[in-house]
Amino acid sequence: MRVMTAIRNIVILTGAGISAESGLRTFRAEDGLWEDHPVEEVATPEGFARDPALVQRFYDERRAQIRAAFPNPAHEALGRLDREFAGELLIVTQNIDDLHERGGARRVLHMHGEGLSAWCQACDARHRWEGALGDGPACPACGEVAMRPDIVWFGEMPYRMDEIFDALASADLFVSIGTSGAVYPAAGFVQQASANGARTLELNLEESLGSRNFDETRLGTASELVPAWVDEILRS
Ligand code: APR
Repeated sequence: MRVMTAIRNIVILTGAGISAESGLRTFRAEDGLWEDHPVEEVATPEGFARDPALVQRFYDERRAQIRAAFPNPAHEALGRLDREFAGELLIVTQNIDDLHERGGARRVLHMHGEGLSAWCQACDARHRWEGALGDGPACPACGEVAMRPDIVWFGEMPYRMDEIFDALASADLFVSIGTSGAVYPAAGFVQQASANGARTLELNLEESLGSRNFDETRLGTASELVPAWVDEILRS
C-alpha cells in the first residue's frame, strides 16, 4: 500500500482534448484535423519543402482559430492551480494554442511550439505572430522572407526536453489531461514519472493508448474533471 504524503511537486501534460471544448479540433477523432489533412503534407519538414504555400495556409487557419477561441473551465482551473498551489508546478503542453496562458497559467512549457510564433529560417529570430505567414511577410529582425510556423513537426526535436525530464524526475504527481498517448516522447512521460516514484493520474474523455500505465484514470470531459481535481489538490 502506498503511503499518502503531501503533494509538493506536480507535472501536468496536456493535449488537444483540453482545448476541444474551446472549439479547437483534436487530431485523431473522427472529425479530427488529421482526417482532412495527411500528416506528412502539413506536419513534416519534407511536406513544407514540397508545398510551403499549403502548409502556411494550414497554420494561418490554425492561428486564426486560436485567436478566436477562449479558455474553458479546464484551462481556468489550471490557472487557479498555478496561482494557489504553493509547491512546484510545470504544465507541459503539446498544444500550440495560448489558452493555458489566457486561462491564467504562468508555468507553461510548449513542447510542440506555438501557433502564435513565427520562426525566421534566415536569422533564427522568433517573433510573436498573430497575422498570416502565407503572404510572405519579411522578418522584422533581418528583413528576409523566410519565416515558418514555430511548430515542432514530425521528425523534429520537441522543445526543452531537458527541463521536462528534470521536472519528471522530481515530480510526486504526474497528471495527463486530454491526450491520446499516440505521440512520443510525450506518451512516455507517464512511465518516466512512475519509474521515478510519482503517482500518476489520467483525465481523459475515453481510455487512451497509455491508460494502463496510470495508477488511476478518470473518464469525462476536461471542463468537468479538471476543476474537480484542482479543488481536491487545493483542499488537501
Ligand atoms: N475532454 C477531455 N478529453 C478529451 C475531450 C474533452 N472534452 N475531447 C477529446 N478528448 C480526448 C480524446 O479522447 C483523445 O484521447 O483528447 C485526446 C486527443 O487526442 P489527439 O487528437 O491524439 O491529440 P494529442 O494527444 O494532443 O496529440 C498529440 O499529435 O499530431 C500531433 O503534434 C500534434 O500535439 C499533437 C500530438
